[in-house]
Amino acid sequence: MTCGPTRSSTGQRRPSLGDNLIVGLDIGTSKTCAVIGEYNDNGVLEITGVGTAPSTGLRKGVVVNIEATLQSVTKAVEASELMSGREVKECYVGVAGANVEGINSRGVVAVTGKGREICQADVDRVIEAARAIVIPMDREVLHVIPQTFIVDDQKGIRDPLDMIGVRLEAEVHIITGSVTTAQNLVRCVNRAGFKADGLILQSLAASRAVLTSDEKELGCLLVDLGGGTTDVLMFSDGAPYFSASVGAGGAQVTNDLSIILNVPMDAAERIKRESGSCYLPHVEADESIVVPGVGGRPPQEISKARVASVIQPRMEEIFRLVREKVEQPGFWHHIKGGVVLTGGGALMPGAADLAFEVFGVPVRTGAPSSLGGLVDAYRNPAYSTAVGLVLLGAERQGGVPDADPRARASGAKGGSEKSKPQKAKPDAPLRRLGEWLKEFF
Ligand SMILES: Nc1ncnc2c1ncn2[C@@H]1O[C@H](COP(=O)(O)OP(=O)(O)OP(=O)(O)O)[C@@H](O)[C@H]1O
Ligand SMILES: [Mg+2]
Repeated sequence: MTCGPTRSSTGQRRPSLGDNLIVGLDIGTSKTCAVIGEYNDNGVLEITGVGTAPSTGLRKGVVVNIEATLQSVTKAVEASELMSGREVKECYVGVAGANVEGINSRGVVAVTGKGREICQADVDRVIEAARAIVIPMDREVLHVIPQTFIVDDQKGIRDPLDMIGVRLEAEVHIITGSVTTAQNLVRCVNRAGFKADGLILQSLAASRAVLTSDEKELGCLLVDLGGGTTDVLMFSDGAPYFSASVGAGGAQVTNDLSIILNVPMDAAERIKRESGSCYLPHVEADESIVVPGVGGRPPQEISKARVASVIQPRMEEIFRLVREKVEQPGFWHHIKGGVVLTGGGALMPGAADLAFEVFGVPVRTGAPSSLGGLVDAYRNPAYSTAVGLVLLGAERQGGVPDADPRARASGAKGGSEKSKPQKAKPDAPLRRLGEWLKEFF
């Protein structure tokens, strides 16, 4: 990428700092969000631009209208460009939806190096062996994330490098996605004039932005309450272990309000955001709001408790579905570090209290907060995915020093939550597109 002034979307010429920019693009069912991360003079990554636009071309996280989606992408990126004063050319794009699946796999190789000392080539080979699973033609591997290594019979090894052994095993979490879904997503990004630098699972990105290392080590559940879907990613012993998606989100809550209160969807959405709660014990019995009349009927006054009584059962159902998804394969006991709610739906007052009643483990709301920068807008659960895409993008470019070999091997997870991402060294390996992108574009 060249430096110097370039064309901006508004016709002005803006400086393009090339490798200094890392852009996360979260194309969600409700909104498209672009976040610009930029290295400051001290080499520290800061958020300098956030732009959003309503999404109208997706259903449950999957593109169903290319034209509408590319317009949302254009608007969101333009807004982030305006805020940061930079021109975006490339971005990391989030993928999600019911078509994404996670599988745990295991690989084994013989250590071949001199003196049976495990070297990076052995680690790469064992991860390659673990990812050799049969997947249908219409699916492709998105991430291979090492969970743990076993050297001979010694289990639970994080970093096998330089250890002596004969047999090296790796346990990995493989995330696959639909090829066509990804192609459509990339097509929208390309047609909007941007290059997709990589596709990253949305919940993996959100987890990078909001979970602490302790939570991941203890075992925790990230619940991304989106508009069309609720995506779940479970961590155990510091690495992703299970992922799932529930086909319901905030849009269903709005839909319920619209039907039961007999108001249009946009009015229901406003009522939900301004006066909604999903936990009745927190709602004052005497508080009321005015609901606009439809079809010439006069506006009516209803109590906030009535609004909450519509929202609570739907949110409770979503949490129960999440619990079932994790309990069914017998993984619930892994969640010792609690549940973290994120995504726009986590802004609903009372969400953590209701979730605590359903899950029976500590629950908190997670928003990205660990990055600096003058822009404050990103400290919002609705932007967790986009901020996480920036962080994982920085890691893929070698931008975050990380002692965890599992991150080195996968390029998918990072180091201490508290450490500020530092600028990539010039010789740092630039991790490029996933294999499927190479294959198709
Ligand atoms: N203040 C608020 N209170 C309650 N709900 C809110 C609030 N702000 C946003 N939401 C809800 O959050 C949902 C959107 O969340 P988010 O922006 O994370 O979704 P998305 O990423 O576009 O969708 P998805 O992840 O399903 O593709 C919407 O249903 C919206 O109504
Ligand atoms: Mg989302």
